[in-house]
Amino acid sequence: MTPDSQTPLDLETVTFSHIPVLSREVIEGLTVRPGGHYLDATVGGGGHSRLILEAAADVQLTALDQDEDALAAAQKNLAEYGDRIQFILSNFAAYKFTPNTFDGILADLGVSSYHLDQPERGFSFRHTASLDMRMDKRQPLTAADVINEWDEAELADIFFKYGEERLSRRIARRIVEKRPLHTTTELADAIATCVPPKYRYGRIHPATRVFQALRIVVNDELKSLETFLEQAPKALVPGGRITIISFHSLEDRLVKHGLRNSPLLQVLTKKPITASEEEIANNPRSRSAKLRIAQRKQE
Ligand SMILES: C[S@@+](CC[C@H](N)C(=O)[O-])C[C@H]1O[C@@H](n2cnc3c(N)ncnc32)[C@H](O)[C@@H]1O
Repeated sequence: MTPDSQTPLDLETVTFSHIPVLSREVIEGLTVRPGGHYLDATVGGGGHSRLILEAAADVQLTALDQDEDALAAAQKNLAEYGDRIQFILSNFAAYKFTPNTFDGILADLGVSSYHLDQPERGFSFRHTASLDMRMDKRQPLTAADVINEWDEAELADIFFKYGEERLSRRIARRIVEKRPLHTTTELADAIATCVPPKYRYGRIHPATRVFQALRIVVNDELKSLETFLEQAPKALVPGGRITIISFHSLEDRLVKHGLRNSPLLQVLTKKPITASEEEIANNPRSRSAKLRIAQRKQE
């Protein structure tokens, strides 16, 4: 890990299971070559990284994650590759991209199943935890700050914009009436009790969109993605590929336009690649995944 990482965790306590999404499609898309150098901008549990390292001989990998627990877990899971991997604790938007360095770059966006399964991180409304939702625990803003301090109009605005929540105003009003709200389940209950029964018992939990919006705001996810899309292409060698997996339409839109508008890139996926029915059956998280691929032009 780089020096800016914090006290290492007790690795025995870290279990990080994450089935890599669209793995065959990512590896084919990257066209991993022997001796190549690849960047995994979101190493998470290291599932995709391992596949990249196994796809050809003598592959070198630079692995980023802004979450120190994820990075520690990846370090442990990928220990057998030794100095073929350099681990860096960093937001991919803050990473200094060196021109003409990588044969391929991968970003698999969002949170991992690990985040959702760790109640104390506050990402899930299924477990009671304090309202945190920071991927990078060094950042000051938490979901509790947003929920308890932002005014009603601002809350409604982010629920609508980042959660595409139709009942954003009604939900914001209820939150303001009920606050302070300290836990994930208090927030989820406040939302569930102010929406119509059809919504309350629908296909997804009525708090899903609000939780998505809060996560995006707390981690400044869309801004980071925009910066990444601007900066990353120059770090590819000519002919190098960039592969990005997104999980909701706001991200996918940015990826689609960012790749298309980069003067350095040629887009290889007219339509995004999505998971097969078989993959969805084995890994429900892949249901909403969209993979887009572009190649750096030969100058
Ligand atoms: C979907 S998981 C990646 C899973 C990984 N591909 C695997 O196979 O195990 C996304 C990871 O990216 C990290 N992440 C999300 N946004 C990030 C950003 N802006 N910069 C760096 N890491 C980020 C999260 O902390 C999380 O560990």
